[in-house]
Amino acid sequence: MPTECMPAERYAVFGNPVSHSLSPKIHALFAAQTGQDIRYEAICAPLDGFAEAVNTFIAAGGKGANVTVPFKVEAFNFARQLTPRAQAAGAVNTLSFAADGLRGDNTDGAGLVRDLVANLGVPLAGLRVLVLGAGGAARGVILPLREQNPAELFIANRTADKAQVLAGVLGVTGGGFDDLNQRTFDLVINATSAGLSGAALPTPTFSPDALAYEMVYGVETPFMQTARAAGARVADGLGMLVEQAAEAFYVWRGMRPDTAPVLAALRAQLRAQLNVHLTPRLNA
Ligand code: ATR
Repeated sequence: MPTECMPAERYAVFGNPVSHSLSPKIHALFAAQTGQDIRYEAICAPLDGFAEAVNTFIAAGGKGANVTVPFKVEAFNFARQLTPRAQAAGAVNTLSFAADGLRGDNTDGAGLVRDLVANLGVPLAGLRVLVLGAGGAARGVILPLREQNPAELFIANRTADKAQVLAGVLGVTGGGFDDLNQRTFDLVINATSAGLSGAALPTPTFSPDALAYEMVYGVETPFMQTARAAGARVADGLGMLVEQAAEAFYVWRGMRPDTAPVLAALRAQLRAQLNVHLTPRLNA
């Protein structure tokens, strides 16, 4: 069959809810930029019907999928093969459907590292890094952060023993918010969901050039406000969202899109929506 007659290869993001997802727009921009003939849609799977929804999509010819809240752990259990970074994350955000089975990957950590290093110009080697939170969002990014050889990688959580358990599993150190007293960090990453409810967090001492990175996007959280007031540079999680999508696109299509224009387009869209109702989202 001539190429122009081939149907576009199908991809999707599965979530519940999922109508807010920016992934269809991001992948449409990647596809247009790279000349890839793909179709990417958002599929709202029933809360008790994730596996069935994915199987239906595969049967209809789907080639791969992203997975978002609340299905990332279910996708982890559903995949037949797991990449080491998915294993470390304990969650899957990218599925590939190949002849040799269902492969689960996790591109969240790589997306965060790429946003920090390439977009924000923060080389992680030698930095004192603090991750706030010990839930799924934190777990997904610890190993890729550790691979960048920071001088220190500390996980602090409201519930201290959760941080200690996670830190023990991933070979870093962890504790409670009280352990932050008298400590200084060059990079502080908020991987808690506190920003979604507008809750404040304890702020550590920032070094003079410190970056405060909020994994939530779509809103200025109390964490961002406090960090800004303390003199830190501040970034939200929109770059991580675009970069994790680019990594998934690479996993599926073997090519890396230029993320800069896509991030700029999304940033403009979010700014335009700021005066309208906007629901904040966490990269988790
Ligand atoms: P997810 O898997 O989406 O990350 P989660 O496992 O419920 O969700 O984790 C949410 C994280 O945000 C946890 O680290 C949680 O702290 P606890 O383990 O102490 O519950 C943190 N978190 C949520 N709201 C918070 C708040 N108001 N203050 C501090 N930490 C908060």
